[in-house]
Amino acid sequence: MEISVILVVGFCVLLVDHGAQASHQSSRNLQETDQPYRTGYHFQPPKNWMNDPNGPMYYKGVYHLFYQYNPDGAVWGNIIWAHSVSYDLVNWVHIDHAIYPTQPSDINGCWSGSTTILPGEKPAILYTGIDTKNHQVQNLAVPKNLSDPLLREWIKSPYNPLMTPIDGIDPDLYRDPTTAWQGPDKIWRVIVGSQINGHGRAILYRSKDFVNWTRMDSPLHSSGKTEMWECPDFFPVSTSSTNGVDTSSQDKSTKHVLKASFNHHDYYILGSYMPENDKFSVETNFMDSGVDLRYDYGKFYASKTFFDGAMNRRILWGWINESDSESDDIKKGWSGLQSIPRTVLLSKNGKQLVQWPVKEIEKLRSKNVSFHDKKLKSGSVLEVPGITASQADVDVSFELLNLEDAEILDPSWTDAQLLCSQKKASVRGKLGPFGLLAFATKDLKEQTAIYFRIFRSNHKYIVLMCSDQSRSSVREELDKTTYGAFVDMDPRHENITLRSLIDHSIVESFGGEGRACITARTYAKLAIHKQAYLFAFNNGTSSVKISRLNAWSMKNAQIVSTTKRRKSHL
Ligand code: FRU
Repeated sequence: MEISVILVVGFCVLLVDHGAQASHQSSRNLQETDQPYRTGYHFQPPKNWMNDPNGPMYYKGVYHLFYQYNPDGAVWGNIIWAHSVSYDLVNWVHIDHAIYPTQPSDINGCWSGSTTILPGEKPAILYTGIDTKNHQVQNLAVPKNLSDPLLREWIKSPYNPLMTPIDGIDPDLYRDPTTAWQGPDKIWRVIVGSQINGHGRAILYRSKDFVNWTRMDSPLHSSGKTEMWECPDFFPVSTSSTNGVDTSSQDKSTKHVLKASFNHHDYYILGSYMPENDKFSVETNFMDSGVDLRYDYGKFYASKTFFDGAMNRRILWGWINESDSESDDIKKGWSGLQSIPRTVLLSKNGKQLVQWPVKEIEKLRSKNVSFHDKKLKSGSVLEVPGITASQADVDVSFELLNLEDAEILDPSWTDAQLLCSQKKASVRGKLGPFGLLAFATKDLKEQTAIYFRIFRSNHKYIVLMCSDQSRSSVREELDKTTYGAFVDMDPRHENITLRSLIDHSIVESFGGEGRACITARTYAKLAIHKQAYLFAFNNGTSSVKISRLNAWSMKNAQIVSTTKRRKSHL
């Protein structure tokens, strides 16, 4: 029997064995009634709180996603590693929890961490445990049975904790080990996020055997302009191809990315890394004036990448939290989504990363509507009819007919988010605002606008991308922050493109072919299910043309649950 057949059979047996609850089915029923905000194709557990993606990996034909989870409620607490598996990053099976408090070194919580695939195809998880003194320490867990592609059981190292907060490390600010990488000297390196003397820092450790770790005198990097770094990530990207690069790969044609989570966002910097002396020479730095590289300029936090050897790509997952209140979450019975997994590449000019939803998600596309060469005159609103506008994938390209109409950018307008919140979708400009209105009612009373404005500054053009939630719901108590980003593109040479993944209470938008991403959470009260409409609009005084628009209804992902409640850790 072929390996894939064995896995498919195995998967089915697993479902039958455990009497899979069709949680997808039940969530669908709920959605139709009192759960308008549950998603159709974004990853979420059947209920309760979820935060960071943990230890994603590809192993023996199966994608694994672990995540920070509260088995007991819809607010953060009692944190364990829940575990789900997939063949395609779209349809998922929730299986038994992987890592939960059992040892003195994690008895008060199993916090974020990463997987490293050791030689001989052996996955190993490094994660933060909260110990008996409530100190943060770093632990190791390995699969019990390597021949189980679902890696259902994990054994903790008897040597835990492997790293502890000594020598000036604050035990409350020391967590989230990365995927480790191996230098040409065969020695493993890993970084742990921390804050020392008020500054964010990636503490560097080395190990020959993955068990005994020595802290290096110098961190991999630190920054005086930030505080605690949560969930760091460190990985190479290719400067010469569109393939992803394995974390331990040593190649002349790579740059390295260091990501850290702070100030509610995931920031990254680029640089070159030399394993001989573990020096990371950066091209830009965190919070440097004029440079603000973020994975996403909306909601997206504590993300993590992994190298997918099957498809030679690097994939990014990020936690998208709620914008409603804790009491709303308790009422809903859940909180938190994961982003659609995104491929990550270096941009052609090498100055930033570009992201794009994994190709597999396109298999959920069903009914399609498309336009070509449609002029959007000043003030026009054009319905995109005939699709399920509350669960859709939209890809649109705008051609600017009169670029010379662009307004002059005031040199003080350097903060894209501020500019978007001052110039919301209702504020008329010249070239823009134009874009999409998602989750809209027919009368546009509710609408979430994702749009662009084009400015001129000396001889350059500046493209601003915004996501305006101010009218996304008639409910008032929500966080309706407007988000914004500058898109590094020259509208003289290319059209302005936007892809938006719309899914009941989330819209994930990719501007300029993924050079700027903005994710927003919205909670329409009126524009739900069949009452949700999608429009293209132009509220600028200058006309623009939709050179092409494709919109698809999206089918539901199959997300089913086989988890059994285990008394021992609940
Ligand atoms: C980030 C984070 C991590 C920590 C985890 C706990 O959201 O605070 O630093 O390990 O969540 O759930």
